Amino acid sequence: MQSVRLLMIGLGNVGQGLLTILIEQEQSLRQYGLNFSVVGVNDLRLGSLADPRGLSLPDLLAAAAQGDLNRVAAEKKGLSVEDMLEQVDYDVLVEASYTNLQSGEPATGYIRKAVSSRKHVVTTNKGPIALHYPELQSLAEQNGVRIGFEGTVMSGTPAIFLGMNWLKAAGIQRIQGILNGTTNFILTKMEEGMEYAEALAEAQRLGYAEADPTGDVEGYDAAGKVVILSNVLMGHSIAMGEVDRQGITHLTSADIRDAQRAGQRWKLIGTIEAVEGTIRASVKPRMLPLSHPLAQVMGATNAITYTTRYLGEVTLIGAGAGRLQTGYALLADLLSIYRRESS
Ligand code: HSE
Repeated sequence: MQSVRLLMIGLGNVGQGLLTILIEQEQSLRQYGLNFSVVGVNDLRLGSLADPRGLSLPDLLAAAAQGDLNRVAAEKKGLSVEDMLEQVDYDVLVEASYTNLQSGEPATGYIRKAVSSRKHVVTTNKGPIALHYPELQSLAEQNGVRIGFEGTVMSGTPAIFLGMNWLKAAGIQRIQGILNGTTNFILTKMEEGMEYAEALAEAQRLGYAEADPTGDVEGYDAAGKVVILSNVLMGHSIAMGEVDRQGITHLTSADIRDAQRAGQRWKLIGTIEAVEGTIRASVKPRMLPLSHPLAQVMGATNAITYTTRYLGEVTLIGAGAGRLQTGYALLADLLSIYRRESS
């Protein structure tokens, strides 16, 4: 049995989702020959704990739900992230702190530090991967460790895995998708007659929306995912500012009804396309005929269509946000790092 000691930065919806799965699946994870423990947790809002013997996962989860980690037994309390990264003995940094798509900080600094100390990293944080992927990836290679970031696009639905491990060699020419759950949820609810503000509040309650939902409704979150897909799968580094971006805030209930009457549906669509040796990237609301496969994707569900040279179109539809769905992405990345080759 291999022990894997996790250091968790950020214990919001996603971190708590991972803890829930680790608790629920403890027995079945042993089948992989893995025993996960959490030796440190640091959350800006909830507090900071470290213990080399491992923290109680049920106690952590209960304390997080009550908004204060202080009641959990731990050898050390109150360490800063920087001190934790230096003083705690761990195997994998689980980085699920808040997303900053302007600088990628402070998460990028944490990931750099972990990788430089030869620790694996799994993250759901779009900032570091959208803004610093080539640098972080090369640092990881130099140090012989891996960075898993499946959860940055379509939560635990394996959009990155499929692209990197299967479709890349098939020649990806275009990627198009519904890459933000919150906006797809809002558009769906508005079609059902709900007001915009009420639909957004519901998306926040369900844990789909970013801490600042402007990132969702103005298309920044989807643009971050477009940049990640371009950098990772199209071999072409683009910056956030190069994405032609528009959100859904200007769409009114009347626009939604007009589309319905015309047998169409508004969707916020992210597109990355190789055109004459360069990349064109956009996030825009588009009115799609109901016969279009992406027009049928409703609620917080996401979808991605890869157009490839050898396979034509390959579409993946699945969860794009949510506590357990994104927590699962972290577990899948951990398993992918530690999976033993079956003989
Ligand atoms: N706020 C994002 C969404 C979460 O709604 O899709 C997943 O990145």
